[in-house]
Amino acid sequence: MSKTLLIIKPDATERNLIGHVINRLEKARFTVADIRMVHLTDQQARKFYAVHEGKPFLDSLVAFMTSGRVVPMLLEKDNAVEDLRALIGATNPEKAACGTIRDEIGRDIEKNSVHASDSDENAATEIGFFFGPDAI
Ligand code: CMP
Repeated sequence: MSKTLLIIKPDATERNLIGHVINRLEKARFTVADIRMVHLTDQQARKFYAVHEGKPFLDSLVAFMTSGRVVPMLLEKDNAVEDLRALIGATNPEKAACGTIRDEIGRDIEKNSVHASDSDENAATEIGFFFGPDAI
């Protein structure tokens, strides 16, 4: 069993899609091991997305991620990181494979409804960010 982190982003929480996303995750055999609802501060969002420092989309991304509630959750499954990336689809919903979560509910490359860790190493960092070192 391995772990990863998913965040339901403000564009999805504001459309009352939290239950829908969790349903998709559970149908795909992910276990929700922990969950929170947070309104991120500017500082928290910049720290979470520090890997994107210097990218042209960072300021807009931070404004979006602090615009409403987000729902980070700790997910468990065999091959969790890779399987979750496949389930959510490409960053740009227009390019996401048919039937993926971003294809289904994503709005655009920024308001793409969900974030998922892209490696085991980043999953550990991101899980620690929201759920503390004991959750890793
Ligand atoms: P996420 O998987 O959370 O990782 C970084 C986020 O930046 C991404 O999803 C999008 O919400 C946002 N973003 C906006 N523009 C871009 C872009 N051109 N390339 C990658 N990510 C982008």
